[in-house]
Amino acid sequence: MSPLIVNLVYLVAGILFILGIKGLTKPSTAVRGNLLSATGMLIAVVITLLNSEIVNFSYIIAGVLFGGAVGAFMALRIQMTSMPQMVALLNGFGGGASLTIASAEYFSVLNIDAHLFADLLEPVALGADAFGLGAVGQVTLISIGLTILIGAVTLTGSLVAFAKLQGLIKRNVGLPGGPLGNALLLIGALTALVCILINPSQAVTILALVALALLLGLFLVLPIGGADMPVVIALLNSYSGLAAALAGFILGNTVLIVAGSLVGTSGLILTKIMCVAMNRSLGNVLFGKMAAAGEVVDADEIYAGKVTSAQPDEVAMMLEVAKRVVIVPGYGMAMAQAQHAVRELADSMESRGIEVEYGIHPVAGRMPGHMNVLLAEAEVPYDKLVEMDCINPTFEDTDVVIVIGANDVTNPMAREAEGSPIYGMPILNVDKAKNVVVIKRSLSPGFAGLPNPLFAMDHTLMVYGDGKKAVVEMTTALNHS
Ligand code: TAP
Repeated sequence: MSPLIVNLVYLVAGILFILGIKGLTKPSTAVRGNLLSATGMLIAVVITLLNSEIVNFSYIIAGVLFGGAVGAFMALRIQMTSMPQMVALLNGFGGGASLTIASAEYFSVLNIDAHLFADLLEPVALGADAFGLGAVGQVTLISIGLTILIGAVTLTGSLVAFAKLQGLIKRNVGLPGGPLGNALLLIGALTALVCILINPSQAVTILALVALALLLGLFLVLPIGGADMPVVIALLNSYSGLAAALAGFILGNTVLIVAGSLVGTSGLILTKIMCVAMNRSLGNVLFGKMAAAGEVVDADEIYAGKVTSAQPDEVAMMLEVAKRVVIVPGYGMAMAQAQHAVRELADSMESRGIEVEYGIHPVAGRMPGHMNVLLAEAEVPYDKLVEMDCINPTFEDTDVVIVIGANDVTNPMAREAEGSPIYGMPILNVDKAKNVVVIKRSLSPGFAGLPNPLFAMDHTLMVYGDGKKAVVEMTTALNHS
């Protein structure tokens, strides 16, 4: 097939990927965006199969059937709440695929029979120039080395992220020496890479690079706490894209370079957005630290004698006379699986003519889009989910805000308490509303471990209890009033 036609089709696939990513920026266009990207990938795969020197179609068909069956099984079985684990695994497979491509290409360039493992440990007689590696050969070798490094880190890092989210690994332990141990592993891997460039025929160095990079991925992610895993997964997603783009350079495949670069950059942007929304630097996340503690805040001092509690039926009486209510969900709504109950409460309020919207903080919960996914599952219309920047100016005109299982994302200390670890984190300004109802089981802190002055404000009522139970009781009381 003519290279011009192949590249034109790749261009169409690339445009579909970009339109697909654009579609994913809004819930209402996300399904279409996903379809566009998938179509682009199908076109790219078909044209590649028609074009390249495919040596063995039977392996490819077996791979498609096996991989497709496993993928379809996983996608059908997965619960919405386990989506981060699935993403982690898929990132890992992406990194593993790039690692395998680069290793295979190295052995094919060196003309080594990879079946004979013992041979790999012996220096190969041929030097780089002997098999025609000129300047282009060096570029290929650099791409091979970097793909192996990044692909292997992505593979083991993602497997650890999966195991942590799945609760299979509970302890956060790293190498002795912490970041220094990891730095030594990285230096070792880069040294092996340089050795490969100097003498490509020493196949043992490629084995050393693979081993060191696999260990680096393992020990980079092992010390990081489970709650920080979403940020790590976004970063590993970016790595998997980078590895794929580099594999594209090795194979001279344009569409792989385009798709890999898109994944690499969008993963990096998502990582940055999450860090900004959590008011943490990437270094803090990677080294498992919260921001400096600043002044010690005493919870007793903030809460003593100032917290007012209420029962669900008292809240229902308040809702009866409200005109506008905003529901602010957080991690506790996910824990209580209260999304359906919340939707029923909203339906009941709307049937009385009350305007109801949902205020969504970008890092409410424990993964990007956590609240959107849960509320979509309960069939809350997309247009009712309002992002932080748009809902914040409306709180002053809101009669009641119902905060369900959210804590840090509503903490006014982020706005006012300079020196507090969350100072500067953008929050939902729920304290500006006329009345605030907070549903949670106790006064215990959220992810950041800080007391929340919102709970002690004059216009705040605390409803203690499990999120789902409290909301169901509110709805029952409202329906009977
Ligand atoms: P948090 O600040 O963690 O607060 C959640 C609250 O839910 C807790 O205070 C807890 O209080 C309550 N809760 C737990 N189970 C409950 C239940 N069954 N019923 C009712 N309440 C329950 O959550 P948030 O406001 O959503 O903030 C998210 C935090 O996670 C931020 O600090 C953010 O930086 C961090 N984080 C987010 C992400 C992403 S991407 N979303 C990733 C990593 C970290 P009780 O124990 O008193 O009930």
